[in-house]
Amino acid sequence: MLSKSISKTTEERRMKNVIRCVHHHAFRTNDMEATRKFWEDLLGMPLIGVFVETTDPVTEKPSNYMHAFFELGDGNALAFFQFQEGLYKDTAIRGPQDPFDHHIALEVDSKDTVLAYKDKAEKAGYDCMLIDHGYCYSVYMHDPNGMQVELTTRVKETDDIIEEAAKTAHEDLKKWLAGVTEANNKFRRLRGDNEAS
Ligand SMILES: [Fe+2]
Repeated sequence: MLSKSISKTTEERRMKNVIRCVHHHAFRTNDMEATRKFWEDLLGMPLIGVFVETTDPVTEKPSNYMHAFFELGDGNALAFFQFQEGLYKDTAIRGPQDPFDHHIALEVDSKDTVLAYKDKAEKAGYDCMLIDHGYCYSVYMHDPNGMQVELTTRVKETDDIIEEAAKTAHEDLKKWLAGVTEANNKFRRLRGDNEAS
């Protein structure tokens, strides 16, 4: 998404990028109804398709699974698979979903929306965590499959911070790899210290 305040350099860099946007994101579930409740009832992403398949495309062997899609405002979707034969029913086989291994971030329009989702999710019994990253403002929660979900918004400082960060990104990488490990994000505040929007 482009904004009016970005520089020509930033705009040209983005226009040159052949990879335009997130198309879909897929995840396995063992409980599609709990998944539907989280994504459709809590977050408001409509279930727009459920496709049942009887062959595993990876093994080409008989299988039975459904592939369900929940739609984003841009027409893209998040997808979930559930297998009838109960593969990976035991989460010990799959292991816990570490947010640093994997999480998905979805953009909303404002801090007010982030905070409204936090309120709604907490009332519905989901634990939430706020982080003001400086360049974006996020609430984190887990869906019923253990996937960490981040709802985030751009803030008025976003474009300026990213413009500056882009100038030193390669140098910052080199420095960190060489052992210079102090924090360089002076804008970050943890757990909603800066909740006022
Ligand atoms: Fe993130």
